[in-house]
Amino acid sequence: MKVYLDNAATTALSPEVLEAMLPYMKEHFGNPSSIHSFGRKTRAVIETSRKAIANMLNAAPAEIFFTSGGTEADNMAICGSINDLGIKHAITSRIEHHAVLHTLEVLQEQGKIKLSLVDLLPDGHIDLKHLEELLAFNSRTLVSLMHANNEIGNLLAIKEVGEICEKYNAIFHSDTVQTMGHYNIDTKKIKTHFITGAAHKFHGPKGTGFLYVNSSVKINPFIYGGSQERNMRGGTENLYGIVGLAKALEVANKEMQEHHEHIQSLKTYMINKLENAIPDVCFNGDAKGNSLYTVLNVQFPPSDIAEMLLFNLDIAGIAASGGSACTSGSNQGSHVLRGIGCDMSRPSVRFSFSKYNTKEEIDFCVEKLKEMFAVKVS
Ligand SMILES: Cc1ncc(COP(=O)(O)O)c(C=O)c1O
Repeated sequence: MKVYLDNAATTALSPEVLEAMLPYMKEHFGNPSSIHSFGRKTRAVIETSRKAIANMLNAAPAEIFFTSGGTEADNMAICGSINDLGIKHAITSRIEHHAVLHTLEVLQEQGKIKLSLVDLLPDGHIDLKHLEELLAFNSRTLVSLMHANNEIGNLLAIKEVGEICEKYNAIFHSDTVQTMGHYNIDTKKIKTHFITGAAHKFHGPKGTGFLYVNSSVKINPFIYGGSQERNMRGGTENLYGIVGLAKALEVANKEMQEHHEHIQSLKTYMINKLENAIPDVCFNGDAKGNSLYTVLNVQFPPSDIAEMLLFNLDIAGIAASGGSACTSGSNQGSHVLRGIGCDMSRPSVRFSFSKYNTKEEIDFCVEKLKEMFAVKVS
């Protein structure tokens, strides 16, 4: 049996998405910038895709810019804010994705911004009081806080953070890569200036995503070149990627309620099974509280199999990810787990679920873990 429980890393392309993409790989190959009929055909589908995505987010088509994925969209939002919006100070957290953290760190090293890290509460949530303090005592600020953490699943009170940012006239970027297609995102209700999406996190193709830029902010081009993406990102568009992205978001939105319930039930089931199967197991972050339903980060008891755990799971046919128990070499383990003060001497593994997972797969996985820990708990 092969069990894929690494859906926060990437998801399988769904058949209906592939189906939607195929004509743009086979028949309709025109360059969308060409003025002849081949180009007009592909230009039209790009704009239809943009409109469909905008509608799903309650945004305007002009607020959607296609990118190569989440990393580029995060970079575009952050660099645009700092270079073009007069931002001299940024606030983020130490558990952000590296697409955000490394970008801000480089901008700080270049002397472009002062970077502040907001405190975290014991369960890994953002300390909103500290966020307000940081905003009150600093000049015009960019706040970059992710909607859901990709490793521990903690969900941000995004609406509340948007309101705080508005109060202090701050620019708010939220990396929504893990929540896009999994939660209803209404840009008229959450007061963000920038949010991001990556198709491969919701059964779309890899290497395609988008940035939402609220119409109130104007940033300069991120990639100079041709006039694609209204001059904001030069380069021939990833035509079939964009078609797949729009289709994947449409399917995800349509099936959201059903999949939310199914996946949440798998997560709850796995929590209960693990608690019964393995003594002293616990969960990183706020797994039983305000948490992304697709992610479960499990902390196991100390064990001499710690370093081999992912490898052993892989041998057993189970794909998951992790990285806290790395005591040797250059791998310092997960910056997120370290960031929330997790006990790094205990092995942690992230299991992440999709609509394709089943209860039987969870049973299989917990059974394998039980066997591993039954003999190896030290
Ligand atoms: C929260 C978050 N942000 C950004 C990214 C980067 O997205 P991409 O792989 O599409 O560049 C990921 C992907 O792992 C992610 O989980």
